[in-house]
Amino acid sequence: MWARQGRGIIIGESAPEATKGPLAGREGSEVPERKKVTILEVQAKKERGEPLTVLTAYDYPTALLVDQAEIDIILVGDSLGMVVLGYETTLPVTMEEMLHHCKAVRRGARYALLVGDMPFMSYQASIAEAVHNAGRFLKEAGMDAVKLEGGAALAPTVAAIVAAGMPVMGHIGLMPQSVAKMGGYKVQGTTAASARRLLDDALALEEAGCFSIVLEGIPDRVAELITGRLRIPTIGIGAGARCDGQVLVLHDILGLFDRFTPRFAKRYANLAPTIRQAVEAYRDDVRAGRFPTAEHAFTISDAEFAALAEAAAAPEARRV
Ligand code: KIV
Repeated sequence: MWARQGRGIIIGESAPEATKGPLAGREGSEVPERKKVTILEVQAKKERGEPLTVLTAYDYPTALLVDQAEIDIILVGDSLGMVVLGYETTLPVTMEEMLHHCKAVRRGARYALLVGDMPFMSYQASIAEAVHNAGRFLKEAGMDAVKLEGGAALAPTVAAIVAAGMPVMGHIGLMPQSVAKMGGYKVQGTTAASARRLLDDALALEEAGCFSIVLEGIPDRVAELITGRLRIPTIGIGAGARCDGQVLVLHDILGLFDRFTPRFAKRYANLAPTIRQAVEAYRDDVRAGRFPTAEHAFTISDAEFAALAEAAAAPEARRV
């Protein structure tokens, strides 16, 4: 049953797409049943040289669509602070906001590996707090893994979260939570010394137990060198084509966030004007009396309506 339950109005009869799944074993077909992506599969893809596809999603409908498109990993990124909640940076994002969005994504996505992004100051103050907050992503929000920003200095934190049984994705290079320290959203690792530090960071995170590492905003050759030195997969964003996988922000590829689009993001659709036009067309229809029409209305039988009219006309039905 496919129903919009908010107002109790049933509008269709088919099962939700998420419960069918694009490849879910159709009877008599040779199509293999689609399996949930695990961190073992993520590792196996690196070993087979198959590029990993990663996208952000922040709510139920986009999680459903991204999952139907068979993206390997859905990242509920703290970028939601900027593209969904309208903050200037990712710094104000709270644990409660992240968990709220992660839960919605969980309800929409059945197959992708789900990674929840730990927000600023949810893991920096103490290792105990980091483990506790990582646990909330898995226990309360149904995520499969967490991501946190930081290099070798965060290795003990990563090791503690992994020791508690939770997979961790690292994130080095341009780290938006450290925008103040970096003095802006700047490409990192552009000198031999700073690139060397990135390599050391990546190796420390691998050693601490990360199952993958996001490389953001670093020169392509530096990303390639790091990727070649790691056993675990690298996921690039603004880090060239030689990473083991790529991640982008959904709103950037859909053209939904027009405050600014980073140079490294590729736009695959331009939905902002499409949505604006649809909203304006609705507004004009309502103003001009073109919506709703009979096809959008509900009916009552002539006999019932006649009975109602009679009852309503009776003197006792009139309010004083
Ligand atoms: O918050 C986010 O969406 C991210 C990705 C851009 C890697 O961290």
